[in-house]
Amino acid sequence: MGKWALFLIFTVMCFVPACLKEKKTDMLVENLRCEYLENPLGIGETRPRLNWVLESSVRGQKQTAYRILVASSRENLEKNIGDLWDTGKLMSDRSTQIVYGGKELTSRMRCYWKVCAWDRNGAMTACSAPAFWRMGLLSNDDWEGKWIGMKHIERKSPASGEELPPGPPVPCLRKAFTLQEPVKRAVVYVTARGLFELHLNGRPVGGDVFAPGWTDYNKRIQFHTYDVTPLLNQGENVLGAILGDGWYSGYLSWTRKRGHYGLQNSLLVNLELEYGDGSREVIATDETWRCAESPIVSSDMLMGENCDARKEMPGWGAPGFDDSSWEPVITVEKPKARLVAQSSQPVRVTEHITPVSVNEPRKGAFVFDLGQNIAGWARLEVKGERGTEVTLRFAERLNPDGTIYTTNLRSAGCTDTYILRGGEQEVFEPRFTFHGFQYVELTGYPGVPDRDAVTGCVIHSNTPPVGTFECSDPMVNKLWLNARWSQRGNFISIPTDCPQRDERLGWMGDAQIFIRTATFNMDVAAFFTKWMVDVEDAQSEEGAFSNVSPQIEDLKHSEGAPAWGDAGIIVPWTVYRVYGDKRIIEKHYQAMEHWMDFIQRANPDLVRRNRLGNNYGDWLSINADTPKDLLATAYWAYDARLMSRMAKVIGREQDAAKYEKLFEDIRAAFQKTFVLPGGRVQGDTQTGYVLALSMDLLPEDIRPSAAEHLVEDIREKDWHLSTGFLGVRHLNPVLTGMGYADVAYRLLTTDTFPSWLYPIINGATTIWERWDGWTREKGFQDPGMNSFNHYSLGSIGEWLFRHVAGIDLDPEVPGYKSVIIRPYPGGGLEHARAEYSSIHGKICSGWSRGTDSIELDLTIPANCSATVYVPAAPDATVLESGQAADKAQGVTLLERKDGYAVFAVGSGKYSFTGSPAK
Ligand code: BGC
Repeated sequence: MGKWALFLIFTVMCFVPACLKEKKTDMLVENLRCEYLENPLGIGETRPRLNWVLESSVRGQKQTAYRILVASSRENLEKNIGDLWDTGKLMSDRSTQIVYGGKELTSRMRCYWKVCAWDRNGAMTACSAPAFWRMGLLSNDDWEGKWIGMKHIERKSPASGEELPPGPPVPCLRKAFTLQEPVKRAVVYVTARGLFELHLNGRPVGGDVFAPGWTDYNKRIQFHTYDVTPLLNQGENVLGAILGDGWYSGYLSWTRKRGHYGLQNSLLVNLELEYGDGSREVIATDETWRCAESPIVSSDMLMGENCDARKEMPGWGAPGFDDSSWEPVITVEKPKARLVAQSSQPVRVTEHITPVSVNEPRKGAFVFDLGQNIAGWARLEVKGERGTEVTLRFAERLNPDGTIYTTNLRSAGCTDTYILRGGEQEVFEPRFTFHGFQYVELTGYPGVPDRDAVTGCVIHSNTPPVGTFECSDPMVNKLWLNARWSQRGNFISIPTDCPQRDERLGWMGDAQIFIRTATFNMDVAAFFTKWMVDVEDAQSEEGAFSNVSPQIEDLKHSEGAPAWGDAGIIVPWTVYRVYGDKRIIEKHYQAMEHWMDFIQRANPDLVRRNRLGNNYGDWLSINADTPKDLLATAYWAYDARLMSRMAKVIGREQDAAKYEKLFEDIRAAFQKTFVLPGGRVQGDTQTGYVLALSMDLLPEDIRPSAAEHLVEDIREKDWHLSTGFLGVRHLNPVLTGMGYADVAYRLLTTDTFPSWLYPIINGATTIWERWDGWTREKGFQDPGMNSFNHYSLGSIGEWLFRHVAGIDLDPEVPGYKSVIIRPYPGGGLEHARAEYSSIHGKICSGWSRGTDSIELDLTIPANCSATVYVPAAPDATVLESGQAADKAQGVTLLERKDGYAVFAVGSGKYSFTGSPAK
């Protein structure tokens, strides 16, 4: 027997018993994410963060160690060769925000990765399914070729009051090229000043719309990356692009002006081909491309799109098309802006809606009702004679006579027209415009359309849905759904205020008010990470955050309004809390400090008076007038406290102390200036009390009387709210926290004006901008500012998840690694339930009332723990899965207080029975 054979026998003898003893685990490693995205192509982050989710049905399951392998090829990964990074087995329970620490990542690199984990018994999981990320082009110098476009001819600017002229015709650009050999891999990097739709051999590349998304194009322009290997053929191939106006050159806001960033649209494409022998070739945009006007006669986000199908050029994007009558493109100067990888989910069409009805309130004007207010466009199917012109107009509401109500769109034209080519059935879908609408008016249609002649196409940033809420009151369910729809209608590349009128801006106040609600509905980690860069880009040299981000020159104020500019502090804090993301704090810390210094310089006496900019106060409050300086000062104190916490998170202890001291000082100034004896707060408004209480600005001993004054005011208003954007978010959480959950429920379920449910009984399918957007007595509010799709007043969603269903963050631990489950059953609800896929996995909490009991069912993800508050009278027995809860497996009684029995649990499913709160 040779020595190798002996060695083999020896090895087998040593290892077989170990294998036999190998512990088994049911734990799985799933949902691998890089920079919050699933298998992203073309990222720009050279130290990307990795996350995964652990699944297990075992109670108290935990990760005790992990190993990450990152390989430069799929084959290496399969062989467990982590040639880019192999962490080895690391004893750690972390499964989120793990910063890549392997070999340097450079442009175009491909990284394949997987994770294996060890459970609480030290048993190893099967490794996760392989995932990957690819690096984008990290520097502007990585790009070859030139920026190209079609010569721009601007139409005359309108005099004020005159109708706004459309932009120029939308060009198609094309380039034919020949491949002698089959390619091994083809990746295209593409961006535009304007919007692009890229085609390869006549087929659209990727499903993204409105690409690249909105940034301050003077500072950064995002590019998209697609793997197009399967779209290429040997022989002739054609790259084609359609180049629209979008945010870059189209109308923006109410300024009645085009070209806020530039007027000449241009395109940059690098198609990188890799052959079997390792050689490379780049097909880039240059002067050899050709262009022609497309059938899109004009297209603008606010105005709509006009398409003349008679101008179609069949096959223009495919091989074999004769482009000799096309013009050569022009080359355009390179931008100074940095080209950066698209880092959040692109905008996509996410749903199609068939109308619920069609009526003809006026001869020849057919009005389709989608049954839902959306952002997007209408797809039209039509058959008729060549040259027939069909017009589509859009509205959120109807006039009493059934015609569409468009006055609130202000100068936004929101009209699409389509001229038929004639012959077979035709389908029209605009490419570079979107509208905010529930109703579509169709005129010029040849004949009488069927209800399905029109389809509503819903668009928004494709942030993955993560939360659901449901309870026994259908009106409350509708309220949650409406807020979710307003999120969908307004998270379009950036968080906008509204999708219909000539505005659609990244208003910062709205975003900070709604962000926490937004996190429960969709995974918005990447979305807000990207937007914070826009926020920093918009900061003034003096340190002022803006009112809107991205900034538009014409809207610049020298200082963002209180609660608007403060989004620059609140957004990073929220992203940290919800996703455990420290990097967003580190990255924007200097900008935040700059803002804090800016406010302090302007307000040395520690009462914040916005001298240089606007102060919108408690925007759109009703029957109340909260002093603006009070709100401003409260927000400043809040900023200081958050800064102190954030400084601590990133290890800046001195700053933490400095900002805590600032908080204390502003708090003292607040009390001196705005707090009256007996716990009254100047102005005596709900919002004043709510902010003073939620931002911890009152001495401990007067908090209860301030809460009484708050409730008094609600009672005096016959149990109605009066809060605007700023107060509304904190109203129900404060009432609940101060022991008035019953009042919070009363406000929630009131349907008389003003209330959350009043719009719903009047047909709302989204959240309205104003409590009185439409009332029975007065009809429509002033059309000068009356959107029916604004999410701010929908910030109640946060309370539905946190307090009604009871899923909350541990104040000390970010990212739901430690969960607080504390429902407040009330308001006559029989049951309520929420499911939320946190960064650590899915959390569920649902309660239902029995005759003398209350059931609380919950799921805590593996590797997480929870503190569970089961409603129970002080001496009542609490059961878990039918047995005494304190004896149940993995359940520890911590204490009994405030009508709850409080337990500590690990991961797993639990079913508690308590007694209903009296
Ligand atoms: C927008 C708001 C915004 C506000 C500033 C409005 O026109 O629609 O949502 O926050 O202006 O006060």
